[in-house]
Order: sequence, then structure tokens, then C-alpha cells
Amino acid sequence: MSKLDSTDVQGFALRGYNFPLARFLFLRIPNARNGREFIARLVEHVETGELWVEGKPHTTVSVAFTYAGMAVLDLPQASLQTFPVEFVQGMKARAGILGDTGKNAPDRWDDVWRQNPVHAWLGVYAQSAPELEEKCGEIKALAEATDGAQVIGSQEAAALVIDGKISRKEHFGYTDGFGNPDYQGVNRDTQPGQGKLSPDGKSWLPLATGELLLGYADEAGELPAAPVPHLLARNGTFMVYRKLHQNVAAFRTYMREKGELYPGGEKKLKAKFVGRWPDGTPLELSPNHEDPAVVADKNKNVNFTYANDLDGARCPFSAHIRRANPRDAFGFTGRLANRRRIARRGITYGAYAPDSEPVDDAERGVIFMALNASIFRQFEFVQQQWIEYGNDARQGNDKDALLGNHEGAGKFMIQGSEDAANPPFLCARLPNFVELRGGDYFFMPSITTLRMIAAGTVDPR
Ligand code: HEM
Repeated sequence: MSKLDSTDVQGFALRGYNFPLARFLFLRIPNARNGREFIARLVEHVETGELWVEGKPHTTVSVAFTYAGMAVLDLPQASLQTFPVEFVQGMKARAGILGDTGKNAPDRWDDVWRQNPVHAWLGVYAQSAPELEEKCGEIKALAEATDGAQVIGSQEAAALVIDGKISRKEHFGYTDGFGNPDYQGVNRDTQPGQGKLSPDGKSWLPLATGELLLGYADEAGELPAAPVPHLLARNGTFMVYRKLHQNVAAFRTYMREKGELYPGGEKKLKAKFVGRWPDGTPLELSPNHEDPAVVADKNKNVNFTYANDLDGARCPFSAHIRRANPRDAFGFTGRLANRRRIARRGITYGAYAPDSEPVDDAERGVIFMALNASIFRQFEFVQQQWIEYGNDARQGNDKDALLGNHEGAGKFMIQGSEDAANPPFLCARLPNFVELRGGDYFFMPSITTLRMIAAGTVDPR
């Protein structure tokens, strides 16, 4: 493996920032000349993967482009023609493949995703509100000074504040942010359970770099399909951006009503939907109760497999984390999952609805962002085959219980055991707990590539 030059990779590709605040700016680039000028100046603000030896910065900026954005920047035809087809088409055109129909269909998305295509995404993260304003102000000033970009939409996002404290919860009340893959060469604390299983199934190894970044060997020992020339792609990655609204009232009502019927009670029912208890304890490690000691232990909280639970008695087949990352549930020591991993970079938006009060109908949910070398092979496969279709999990047409586009007709089979508090149980008439509000597919270039685009030197001739 060639060594990873993290100063050339955008920091966002290499690690989750865990900042309390973010704003996503959606840009249109009027023409190549001004757009390049804007990028030339923007690149000085872009956070790289360099280690934060002096502590976390106050703000970070990341940038990524849709295919329409790459085209407006006048990339050479040879480059444009070699981008993968799903990226060229964009997320809206892939709606049928992804199951984004009915309540999730593009005609119900936010305006910015339905009108003219967004050209670029800017992710601005900050430690405080004044710092966020200041950084966004600087970027807007650059856009105006160069006439190189117009902000046609934006999205506020923030970690949830619950009882006055910044939390790791999402709106349904689960602690999030445990499972995320390890990749070779990416500098971070590796945790058992994050990468892939070793061939003997006894330990965990980081995934090949090429599962995340272009220009490196992937799990098949090949370079991922990428646009030419090589330098355009190397150290870049593809990003999926999806705004996922959460129907908190529907979720709470359903859990309360079904929880009264389920012998394990409401909290355990919630755990069965995700595969983790609300505090994050994995069902595989503690099937009957939350265990704060497991949650706090980095050697345990993602360190589990499904091989000893092939009948789903602990973690049901359609629980969200088992569907989204089946680990070794399909046999072959997990090899069927290794090429379907995604790096998650989600952050919540909207205010938390306190448990004790009726839920208002405000917009709230998760800005789901996933990075992968191949949107087709990784994100789209997970979304299509594992979330929206249940065949691999031996659940027929049943969808991921939490995320599926159920349209009121879905069902979730909780497998259970002979234990009286853990019987098999059927949840019928599932509503859509989550609804798509829009998004798109983006290419997140390396720092070198940003400079090449700015200089108009992508074509080496
Ligand atoms: C509103 C939408 C969503 C909610 C509320 C949600 C919630 C959660 C929760 C609570 C966890 C457990 C915490 C953890 O393991 O880190 C989790 C894990 C995960 N989710 Fe989601 N999720 C959402 C959307 C998605 C989507 C769209 C995908 C993929 C297409 C996805 C893929 C994953 C993966 C891969 C994991 C880690 C599983 C593992 O490694 O064991 N999630 N999610």
C-alpha cells in the first residue's frame, strides 16, 4: 500500500468532526472562469486531514461538487466521461433504484433539490454560533468578490441539546456515532469491531484504503473506478448527502402502543428496532438490559458479530444496524459485507422534542452524509438491497424496520427465543418513521485536485 498523504485529503473524508454546529451551503457556479477563481481562494480555507496537534480548530470548511458542478467548471470531456454513471445521473435520477418513491419521491423534496441542480456543497462546522457566522461570512464574501458562486440554499444542523447539554443522541432518542469503519493508513484510534474480520474471524483489521479513497487498492486488490487523469481522482472520494426527516410523533406513538403489547416492554422494543439500546449498548452484547460499562468501553462497544445469533434471538434480522452493516451475519467471515461499508458523517437538524411533552410538527431529522469510493457498490447497494429489500437478511420484502419506506404496510418480525421476556413478536402496519427531503451525490476532491481545477490544468496536455 502506498502511504497516505493526509495533508492532501480533505479532513472530512478522514474523520467525523463532532462539532456542535454546522451549516451546509448549496452553491451554483455561474461560469468556469469565475468559479475557478472562487475555488482558488476557497482552497486556502479547506480543512485537510492533517492531525490537530494543537487541538481542534474553531471552524472547518469542506467542499464537494455534483457532476453538474464539475461540468460547469469545464473539466475536460475525457474526465467528465469517466465519472461513474450513478454520479453523473445524480441522486434524483436514481430514485427508483433507491426506493425513493411515494413519500420519499423527488417531487416532495425541498425546493433546492428539485430546481436547477446544485453545483457544489460547502460544509462549514464550528464550535460556536459567532464562529459559524464569521466563517460563513468570509466564504460568502469570497463568492461575491470573485462572482464565482451563488448560495442558492443552506441547511442548519447541530448536535442535539438535551437538558442543557450537547448530546450524541438523534431525535428518536438513540445514542449515535458508534459504528464507522477503520481504513488502512487513516490515522485514528482503531477500535475492535470497526474494520473487517480477520480470515480466522478472531480479530479485526482495517479495511483497504481504496474502500474510502480513490487511487488506492480496495478490498478486491483493484483501484476503484475513477475519473481520469489519475491525479483528478487520487485522494478524493464520493459523498452521498441525504436530508432525512424523522417523524418523532409517529415513532413515539408506535413504540408506546406496541410496547404495551410486547412482553419485553417499550425500551426493549426500541432496542430491537435498532440493534442497540437507546444508550448505545449493543443487543448482541447485552440482550436484556442497557449496560453503561459496555457503552463506555471502546474495546467492547462496537466489538461484536452475529455468527452466534444466526436465528436473530438477540438482534433481529431487520434491526437497523444488522441490516446496514451485517458483519458476519451472511457467513464467509464477513467478506460479503467488506465491500459495502460506508463512512458516516451524520449530524442532526432541528430542535429536540422533549420526551415529556407532545411533539410539535417542526422539521427535525438527520443530515445523513456517507463517504465511499463507489456510490453504486457501497451506499446504493446498502440502501437498495439491505435497507429497502430484505432478501439477503432472509426477510423477503421486509425493509429495515427503522428506515424503510414502509408506507403503512411494512412489517417487522422480531425473532425472539424461548425466554418469556424475549418472545417472537410481529410489528405490523409500520409507518414511515423517516422521510427523505432531498440531497444529491458529490465528488469530494483532494487539495491537489482543487488546485488543478482552479488553475484549469486538469487536462495535462
Ligand atoms: C434518520 C435516519 C437514521 C437514523 C435515525 C439512524 C440511526 C442509527 C443509529 C441509532 C445507529 C446506532 C449507532 C451506531 O452504531 O453508530 C445507526 C448505525 C448505523 N447506521 Fe443509521 N440511521 C439513519 C440513517 C441511516 C442510513 C440512511 C444508512 C445507510 C444507508 C445508515 C447506516 C448505518 C450504519 C452503517 C450504521 C453502523 C452499523 C454498524 O457498524 O454496526 N443509517 N444508525
